[in-house]
Amino acid sequence: MSKEQVFTIFGGTGDLTFRKLLPALYNIEASADKDLCARIVVVGRRDYTSQTYREAARDWVEQFARLRFKEETYETFARRIIYYQMDFTDEASFEDLNVFYREMEAVNHIFYFAVAPRFFGTIVNGLKRVEGAEAGKVVIEKPFGESLPAASVLNEAMEGFFKADHIYRIDHYLGKEMVRNIQIIRFANPIFSRVWDAEHIECIQISAMEEVGVETRGGYYDHSGALKDMVQNHLLQILTIVAMEQPESLAVEDMHREQIKVLEALRMPEDISESMVLGQYEGYRQEPSVDENSSTETYAALKLMVDNDRWRGMPFYVRTGKKLGKREMQVAIVFKSSVEGVEPDILNIKIQPTEGVYLQFNIKKPGETEELAQAKMDFCQNCSLANRMNTPEAYERLLGACMRGERSWFSQWDQVEISWRYIDKVREQYHKKGLPAYEYRQGTSGPEEADNLVQSFGHTWFE
Ligand code: BG6
Repeated sequence: MSKEQVFTIFGGTGDLTFRKLLPALYNIEASADKDLCARIVVVGRRDYTSQTYREAARDWVEQFARLRFKEETYETFARRIIYYQMDFTDEASFEDLNVFYREMEAVNHIFYFAVAPRFFGTIVNGLKRVEGAEAGKVVIEKPFGESLPAASVLNEAMEGFFKADHIYRIDHYLGKEMVRNIQIIRFANPIFSRVWDAEHIECIQISAMEEVGVETRGGYYDHSGALKDMVQNHLLQILTIVAMEQPESLAVEDMHREQIKVLEALRMPEDISESMVLGQYEGYRQEPSVDENSSTETYAALKLMVDNDRWRGMPFYVRTGKKLGKREMQVAIVFKSSVEGVEPDILNIKIQPTEGVYLQFNIKKPGETEELAQAKMDFCQNCSLANRMNTPEAYERLLGACMRGERSWFSQWDQVEISWRYIDKVREQYHKKGLPAYEYRQGTSGPEEADNLVQSFGHTWFE
């Protein structure tokens, strides 16, 4: 019997599969890891044959794969793909899927649920009819529910069938090169690790600014909003990596334990109006599938306090929004000034689109003067072609990790649970107070109220 891994994608004709999953799997094929995944079963309702599907997939791979498209590599890759037409909402059709797997001697499964979470339970029920499915791994996409209660129900369904350590919750931010780099920059450099605390740092700012709007995802987004779509998962994950104590080892349990401690130390704001600002871009309500009276936020800025010995008293500011003036994700560490009036040292970890590190510190202005100036050292890692070629894209990295059984860079259930609890509570407080989603103009840096939020604590956003 074959022990090769069979990678089944439910939702095989969706955007995620074409834009992200197939290009990532192609990259894996084109790199050293090509034998990780032997066959790819794409499940969809649409009327393709394996042949016509492979042809459709070619265009997407050509357009979105990180590595150069090579006909020969694609041919080998495409031969791995089998299109299986079925309606996964029809439980009985899993009997046929079982027969199909039996014929191909598939025993070592990875299931990827590239579908809306409301279908997760349906697929899990169907898979009960597939021999050996419960021993497989499963990959699920965020959102892991829409709130803590919904996420818990979803989790029970998943853990009721799959082994807990076979569930891979993808948070693609954890696959980004510079997110991986935060720990190294921090712990491998005494010039930073020795001063990584509230005594030496004035504030830490985590920004994820986007130029795009909701595009074709209005239906999903209008029920979600920036807090659930970006903060509950991606940004809180990054915050925990920035704030955690050094894990004893790189093992999943150690890192995870430290991240959890940070989440548990998050303090609820005393007055939400001083800690959170939500915004909505002008024109959002006219987007396709968005309610014309929608109050969903497309922007969120928060001040978070981590109540432990390292961070007590120092604010973490987090902001994210759509239709802003630029696309930029960064983590700025603003150190305390040595003397009042002297500019602070700043370490900025640039996550995207530029991947790199910026360091600002004080020097003397050249010439016969004692005046200060700022040295601004800007290191761009992805400006080099060689670096770009050697850096796997987030999905490629995470899918490869799942195939190898490496779980460190996936969200664990208790992280998801605590993050939801926090986000559910701040949302509730905000809405209870009757605070609005402030309108902001497209192409700006968000609502003025978000600037006022940090200014009221004596800070400004680092741009
Ligand atoms: C997704 C969100 O998880 O992340 C999107 O659902 C958002 O709304 C996207 O646009 C941002 O990802 P990236 O990799 O482009 O920063």
